[in-house]
Amino acid sequence: MTNIKTDTQNPPKQIILNAFDMNCAGHINHGLWTHPRDQSHRFNELSYWTDLAKTLEQGLFDGLFIADITGVYDVYQGNIDLTLKESIQLPSHDPSTLVSAMAAVTEHLGFGITVNLSYEPPYQFARRFASLDHLTQGRIGWNIVTGYLDSAERLIGQTGLKDHDLRYSQAEEFLELCYKFWEGSWEDDAVLKDKANRIFSDPAKVHAIHHQGQFYQSQGVFQVSPSIQRTPVLYQAGASKRGLTFATQHAEGMFIGADKPEKIKQQVDKIRAQAREQGRDPHAIKLFVGISVVTAETDELAQEKLAEYARYASPEAGLAHFSSSVGMDLSKFADDEAIPYQKTNSIASVNSKFKEQQITPNDLKAQLQLGGRYPLIIGSGASVAEQLISLLDETGVDGFNLTRTVAPESHQDFIRLVIPELQQRGRYKTAYTAGSLRNKLFQTGDRLTAQHPAAQYRLDHTEPHSGQQQQSA
Ligand SMILES: Cc1cc2nc3c(=O)[nH]c(=O)nc-3n(C[C@H](O)[C@H](O)[C@H](O)COP(=O)(O)O)c2cc1C
Repeated sequence: MTNIKTDTQNPPKQIILNAFDMNCAGHINHGLWTHPRDQSHRFNELSYWTDLAKTLEQGLFDGLFIADITGVYDVYQGNIDLTLKESIQLPSHDPSTLVSAMAAVTEHLGFGITVNLSYEPPYQFARRFASLDHLTQGRIGWNIVTGYLDSAERLIGQTGLKDHDLRYSQAEEFLELCYKFWEGSWEDDAVLKDKANRIFSDPAKVHAIHHQGQFYQSQGVFQVSPSIQRTPVLYQAGASKRGLTFATQHAEGMFIGADKPEKIKQQVDKIRAQAREQGRDPHAIKLFVGISVVTAETDELAQEKLAEYARYASPEAGLAHFSSSVGMDLSKFADDEAIPYQKTNSIASVNSKFKEQQITPNDLKAQLQLGGRYPLIIGSGASVAEQLISLLDETGVDGFNLTRTVAPESHQDFIRLVIPELQQRGRYKTAYTAGSLRNKLFQTGDRLTAQHPAAQYRLDHTEPHSGQQQQSA
């Protein structure tokens, strides 16, 4: 009796689950596109994505998170030959083009879409995502990235990758301007659609925004009326000092790139402490860690499946991908040579591994063969469920980004074998909650709360569109 009461008052934390994917063949677990059952070569077909969205919704996934890069991986061996042969995120297509089609065949699945803010004006981006928030009925999220590839700068026609920390300063201003568009231009009841009086939108309730900053200037009314969430759910993966300051100020979901439970926990504690210092509720940021899972009916069968998958994996492609992440050509080192730390302008937090540990190309190839940079969890459904629950409880994360191995088989296996085990243990929902992606994640309504920095750009800071204009920023 007492136990039942305690359980009801303090139900165990339920796992939030995103599928982690990219609009390409080779995403994280490189080489598996060659597996006879893998379908990822069909990534340019709409039915590949609409089928995936339906599958994920059957498994009650909270979201499909789609990574993206601008640029190509040309650091390894100084060219793109292996990148092309192994399809290491090349070709890769724009992820936001997939959303409307997937939203049409689902009702609850959220979409976390990566967009690099360095290469487009905030206005164009804000308009596209506000439009998507309308069409998905409040199910869109944005993974904020600033880019780390020199190849992107060349493709876009800019010279030299901006300094790592300066990229985050630009991101701050980009967000501020987006908040003005999303939160500060239209009042909630501006759209009347009043046919009898010929008033679609009330001119008194649509306001010009003004922005004059270091990187951006804009003034005028936003073209999109208020959507369910207004600001999409904000995801970020900053891990460096500057990146963490940015993310803990703005993000509602953060991705942790570590592989060992103790490292993940360190990062979780750091993020929650920093969020508190920034005046935010530390639990207003949901924390996710990437995982790869190979599961089958028994532990033994799962090990056999892993061995079978591994035959198709390409550890060298993993190393080539890693070379671009750290901005260093790792083909230049002997297989058993410790890679020295060099300061680069790429992903600071990944590169810092070379400072902390002696790592050789052979170590990286072994680690990157399957599972990539994430914990690799193998076993029967019950065993995987237990391992996930331990990882969640031990580290304090809120959920996982599940990579694909053999697509779509690995997600189907997870849904068939692992989800029922998690549900039996009370650690996974048995039905979706209503409302927007934000409400599903936080149960605090569809909009950002008053504690979020975006709230300061709400309408009391703007003026009617035809009124006297004041500069802000
Ligand atoms: C799980 C995860 C997913 C990421 N996805 C992307 C991505 O899709 N595109 C991208 O350019 N960077 C991506 N990144 C890299 C981050 O944007 C960021 O550069 C990285 O986490 C390091 O942060 P730092 O710049 O503060 O060192 C991802 C990082 C993590 C941990």
